[in-house]
Amino acid sequence: MSSLDEKDNAVPADSNAQASLPNDTSKDKMDEKENETSGFIIFFFIIGLVASLIAGWVIFPKLLYSKKDQPINFNHLLHMAEVDDGCQSCHFLRTDGSFSGIPGLKQCIGCHDEIQGESKDEAIFVEEYVQKGREVPWLIYSRQQDCVFFSHAAHIKGDGMDCVTCHGHIGESEQTRVYEENRITGLSRDIWGKSISGFNANSWERMKMNDCAKCHKEAIGKASSVQTGKEGCFVCHK
Ligand code: HEC
Ligand code: HEC
Ligand code: HEC
Ligand code: HEC
Ligand code: HEC
Repeated sequence: MSSLDEKDNAVPADSNAQASLPNDTSKDKMDEKENETSGFIIFFFIIGLVASLIAGWVIFPKLLYSKKDQPINFNHLLHMAEVDDGCQSCHFLRTDGSFSGIPGLKQCIGCHDEIQGESKDEAIFVEEYVQKGREVPWLIYSRQQDCVFFSHAAHIKGDGMDCVTCHGHIGESEQTRVYEENRITGLSRDIWGKSISGFNANSWERMKMNDCAKCHKEAIGKASSVQTGKEGCFVCHK
């Protein structure tokens, strides 16, 4: 007997069962069936909702951001114990008011002209960068797009603001964290923030235009140089 024949046999048996159904179903049973159907609809609605929430909150951000490691690990905590002048030993305002940013090799060579410890990262740093005279291509978490003008002097000197307000606790970290790059805009995730919903508990978790503007609005009272309105655009966009 072929499997086709088997199928043929099965169909009438099934349709018989179906045909006899309306005869012995009371109204109660019909109601039960309706409840069952709406139960199914709600069930699938919830499944669909949960699936799209997972897609939106978990999968989408994973797809949107590519992860990059820093070229080598840099231990802030360790170095803070080695330098004399705190953060300013490496990050300082030059006499013209511009910010030195991330230190270059010449600020490291005094201690790292040759390998002094056991650390693998230090060995790579000395062999691949110091001895070859190559600057380390650090990835900058807070990098804004080119149209944005930002001045450290106005904030840290002018207003005496703490680095933590905008950068969080990088200065006390032992590990460089993974850099996440938005595949569409090419910007760091630190700009848009960790939370897709836009919720942020701390001032350093996001640095979008509204975050800069919010503080500038609040700061108007004490800082005359910060304006809002149309002219205000040129404070941050030259
Ligand atoms: C010995 C030099 C040195 C000292 C001292 C130092 N830093 Fe750094 N800092 C670096 C280097 C190198 C990097 C780049 C690697 C990295 O991102 O960790 C960096 C990166 C940073 C960044 C990341 C900026 C960005 O957006 O990517 C911040 C913020 C920072 N430092 C803050 C601080 C603070 C705050 C202190 C003082 C508590 C401090 N640093 C002390 C060398 C130093
Ligand atoms: C005042 C001296 C001093 C200066 C300046 C200094 N370092 Fe270091 N660095 C040290 C010491 C000490 C260690 C620990 C070495 C060990 O025993 O492993 C270290 C360790 C390191 C390591 C290995 C840390 C790890 O996470 O495993 C790296 C990478 C490094 N330094 C990079 C830098 C860079 C980049 C600069 C310049 C921005 C710099 N250092 C400036 C003293 C210094
Ligand atoms: C937590 C508060 C705060 C945040 C966040 C903040 N600012 Fe400011 N900003 C200030 C204050 C206060 C001043 C005025 C300092 C002064 O005039 O002495 C200022 C001044 C400035 C100035 C100089 C204005 C001038 O006329 O010299 C620029 C440019 C600027 N901010 C850009 C930005 C940008 C871009 C961002 C976001 C990436 C930002 N700020 C985030 C508080 C903040
Ligand atoms: C008001 C917010 C704010 C404060 C306060 C602040 N920063 Fe920044 N920082 C920024 C922004 C925004 C950028 C990115 C600037 C850009 O892309 O042009 C940045 C960039 C940096 C960089 C990378 C710069 C580069 O191009 O190499 C370092 C390092 C850094 N900050 C360290 C510090 C340290 C150290 C302090 C405290 C002394 C500090 N910042 C205080 C907002 C801030
Ligand atoms: C306090 C600083 C600040 C002020 C004032 C400000 N901006 Fe911005 N703006 C930013 C920052 C930071 C970004 C980049 C981060 C982002 O996209 O939110 C940005 C991004 C933008 C962009 C998006 C550019 C792009 O390519 O994605 C536009 C457009 C813009 N601003 C227009 C304006 C206009 C118009 C005004 C005046 C009404 C203004 N901004 C005032 C800080 C500022």
